[in-house]
Formats: sequence, structure tokens, C-alpha cells
Amino acid sequence: MPEQTATEPTTAERIAALDARHRQVVETAEDRARQKQHQKGKLTARERLDLLFDSGSFVELDEFVRHRCTEYGMSGDRPDGDGVITGYGTVDGRQVCAFSQDFTILGGSMGEACGGKVMKLMDLAMKIGCPVVGINDSGGARIQEGVLSLAHYAEIGRRNVLASGVIPQISLIMGPCAGGAVYSPAMTDVTVMVRDTSYMFVTGPEVVAAVMGERTTRDELGGAETNSEVAGNVHHVADDEPAAIAWVRDLLGYLPSNNLEEPPVFAHAGAPEVTDRDRHLDGIMPDSANRTYDMVELIERVVDEDSLLPFQESFAPNIICALASVEGRSVGVVANQPGHLAGAIDLDASVKAARFVRMCDAFRIPILTLVDVPGYLPGVQQERMGIIRHGAKLLYAYSEATVPLVTVVVGKAYGGGYAVMGSKHLGADINLAWPTAKIAVMGAGGAVLMLYRKALATAEGADRERLLAKYTEEYRQLFDSPYIAAERGYVDRVIRPSQTRLEVARALRALRHKRAELPAKRHGNIPL
Ligand code: HXC
Repeated sequence: MPEQTATEPTTAERIAALDARHRQVVETAEDRARQKQHQKGKLTARERLDLLFDSGSFVELDEFVRHRCTEYGMSGDRPDGDGVITGYGTVDGRQVCAFSQDFTILGGSMGEACGGKVMKLMDLAMKIGCPVVGINDSGGARIQEGVLSLAHYAEIGRRNVLASGVIPQISLIMGPCAGGAVYSPAMTDVTVMVRDTSYMFVTGPEVVAAVMGERTTRDELGGAETNSEVAGNVHHVADDEPAAIAWVRDLLGYLPSNNLEEPPVFAHAGAPEVTDRDRHLDGIMPDSANRTYDMVELIERVVDEDSLLPFQESFAPNIICALASVEGRSVGVVANQPGHLAGAIDLDASVKAARFVRMCDAFRIPILTLVDVPGYLPGVQQERMGIIRHGAKLLYAYSEATVPLVTVVVGKAYGGGYAVMGSKHLGADINLAWPTAKIAVMGAGGAVLMLYRKALATAEGADRERLLAKYTEEYRQLFDSPYIAAERGYVDRVIRPSQTRLEVARALRALRHKRAELPAKRHGNIPL
């Protein structure tokens, strides 16, 4: 065996050198990052990963990857890791991959090396079949790396698309996310923002001022409120970073690891018979048309207690989308909210619910639809903005969904609203209705004026009022009920409201092994 030369390091020295390098990346850089981030009210990239993953489970990859850029003095600034931490670990014991951009290193900007790390991580997640969580805090494309940075954004975007519907992809926006960088989160399944410390826009205030001559602010352009309430880009806004990450951990509990697996099943404490909590539903529907009720309260009494995880709560609140569980198993809930726009479907509501239905369908989550809808929202503004095209999206999404579909009509199911909200005709499996359901082309007021236009035109005063009352009563007797639909078999069962929780659970149990296929095609052509 050759003698060891004096200059060659010993194994012990090599291990010590590794420890030192590792300390440099993790501890020294982290001390600096902590100072910079905490003063902005933000956590560091590593602190965020610590909150996301089960304690001690995170395994970092590529911690010594460095860029090779030489422009603009970059050869003198080659930090280990290149501004993004990537790796895998467990969340509630289940495998998850994540990347976390470090704004304190080159502004978390995207270049060849860090882009390569993210791509490699996404490829790994696809091979394993596990979710990817991306934590975004970045100045966008690294200007010094030019087209290389753009190329890597595009590569990541393409991977987002290939992974879409295969593994859950979740984005946390925890600082700037600007320019073309916004399009990767936009293609993921769920995007979460943090109030006050995150923003997301295609062009910032300076560019908007220069190009458009408009004075505006970061918040107005892309703060959490703009993105959640107005633009609908974001699914949840948290008050601080730990709350945002906790929400994502909860969310992962409803999702399968990939499209070939079932979502996890949790213990549940639902009573096997009708309880007082259920009986409350027998009185929830107001007798007067002028009073309303809260659909959220109704949903909470149908799904497992404390299981509701609302999506896009402040965007298009006239439709509710939420994940929940029934008998411990994930379910996607879509429901009209009569407290907003009387529950009418406008174009935002259609797009919101369509995307939600497609996400559930992609990830094997059955859909429970609760219906109380006066129809699509009429009006010049809606028509001009494309309610036809956008309204069609929800119809499309339900029609192509092959997961179990259970629908309960609790109130109005008028016109297009009846057809689109998980009707039998779009492929729903079990359709239930309460005795308070009103399934018709339109409400009595509008219908009578159309049907008796001529008779009413010739009548006057008290005579006209008497006729109007008579025709309205006749129409109500005939159509404002679930029974014509039940007569045709469009509704499978008319049930007491208090039976809903048990009936829905039974239906979902029966449908657990449902099999349905779509015709073979390259892909459909959803009206975008
Ligand atoms: C290189 C960047 C950078 C970038 C920030 N930094 N963004 N370096 N490329 N894109 C660096 C800064 O030079 C600075 O370095 C450090 O990160 C911190 O940045 P600050 O500006 O001091 O931070 P702050 O004041 O908080 O402002 C944050 C910011 C600003 C608003 C995001 O940094 C900014 O405007 N950055 C550029 C944003 C941008 O236009 N990106 C390109 C978007 S287009 P030092 O050394 O001083 O600490 C795009 C195309 C994608 O992304 C296409 C995909 C298809």
C-alpha cells in the first residue's frame, strides 16, 4: 500500500472540511439571512422549510451548486447553493419535495445553476410521485445571466405543465414574485400569499409608470388583496408566514401524493344516526324569499366536523369551493352562496369552480355539489366580458369529471344553473334534493310574465293583480318543487334535510370504486 504523503489530507481532515463547508452554507449564511429577512418581517428560506417539513426530516440536495456566470463581476460572487434550497422530506409522514428561494443571496434571482436545481427537484418529484411545494421570494430572472435565466424559467414552466394533474404542485409567495416569474406559480394547483410581505405582478410600479404613465403601488398592482379578491390568482391569503405554511400542511392532508394514489383517509367521529346537529338542517331554509341563510353553515353540517378548508374565499364568494372530508375521506365541495349575488353564477364564479372541479378530478377527490342557484348572472357587463365562454368552463369541467359526483339541490336550481351545477345530465352519479328544492327554467315571477304576456297585457288594475297571483300560484305548484325532476329520475331521491349527512356519506361509500372513462383523444378543447 502506498505511503500517505504529507500534503494529502487525512480522512478526518476531509470530514472536518465537509463539516466546515456545510457550516458555511447552513450556519454562516443563515445568520446573515436571518438579520436581513427578519427586519423585513420575513422568515429565512431555511426557517420556512423547517416549518413545512416534519422536524428533522428535510434532506437538502445540491447545497454546493454554484453559478458559472462571469459577467458584471459575478465570478467574484459565487455563493454555495446559488440562492435556492432544494430537497425532500416528510409532511405528516408523507414524502414531499420543496424548493425555497433565498432572497438574501443574489436576490433569490433565477439563473442557470439555481434553475437547474429546481428542475432536478421537479424531475425527482415526478419519479417519486410526490407533491412539490415551491416557496417563492425572488427578484426574478437574474439579469447578469441574460437568456440563460429566461431559458430556465421556461424549462420550469414546461415541467409545471407536464407535472400538472400528475403530482400536486403548491406555491407559497413569500416576497417578490415579479415578471415572467409569476407564470410558474400560476400553473401550479394552489397559490398562497402572505398579507403585507408578498407581492406578485407581471410589471412593477416603475415600469407601469414609465410605459403607461399610471401612478400606482406594489400593493395595488400585486398585493395579497389584489391577487386574492380581484384577480383570483391566489387561493388563500394568510396573515403571516407560519400561518401560510400551516395552511399548506393542512392542504397536503387532503391530496393524494399523485394521480395514481387515493387521498389519505383520516379517523372521523361522525355519528351513524341523525343527530341534533343534523336536525338543525330541517329549519335552515327560510320560508320567506326575502331572508337568506349561510351556505357555509349548511356545508359544515354535512361534512366531517372542522374539516372544511375553503379555497379562494374572498374571490367570487357567490360560489363556495372547499376541500373537506366525509367519513374521513377527502371531498371537494362546490356550492352556491345565496348571500352573495343571490348565488348567481357570474364569470368569476364559473372560472373559480371549474378550476376547482378539474383539480379534484385530477387528484381522485369526489365532488359534492350543493345547489341553490337562480342561474347565470345576467347583464351587459357579464355578456361583454364573456360569460358565454367563461360560463362554459364549469359545464366543461363537470362533464369531463370522472370522480364520484354527488349533488344535493337544497333550494333553487333554475335555468343554466340547474344544468351546470352537477346535474344528472352532466354525469353526476347520485342526485338528491330537499323538499325545498325548486327545479325549473326560471322563478315564478319571470316565468308568469313570459307565459301569460298576452293575457296580462289586456288586463288592468286589480284584475291584472288577481290574474298575476293566480298564475304565479299555479306555476309554483307545478314547477317550484323537486317533484317533476324526481318524476323523470333526474333526481334520485328527495330527502329530509336532516338526512343529508348520512345520505351523502352513503352515496360516496357506494361510489368509492366507481369506474368511468372518457373517449380517447389527444386532449379536449376547453373554452379558455
Ligand atoms: C439580479 C437581483 C435581481 C435580479 C434583485 N437582485 N433582483 N439581481 N437579478 N432580477 C439583487 C439586487 O441587485 C440586490 O443585490 C439584492 O438582490 C436585493 O435586491 P434589492 O433591490 O436591494 O431588494 P428590494 O429593495 O427588496 O427590492 C426587491 C425588488 C428589486 C423589487 C424585487 O430587487 C427589483 O426590482 N428587482 C428586479 C426585478 C425584475 O425586474 N426582475 C426581472 C423580471 S422579468 P445587492 O448586491 O445590492 O444586495 C422576469 C422574466 C422571467 O423575471 C421570464 C420567464 C419566462
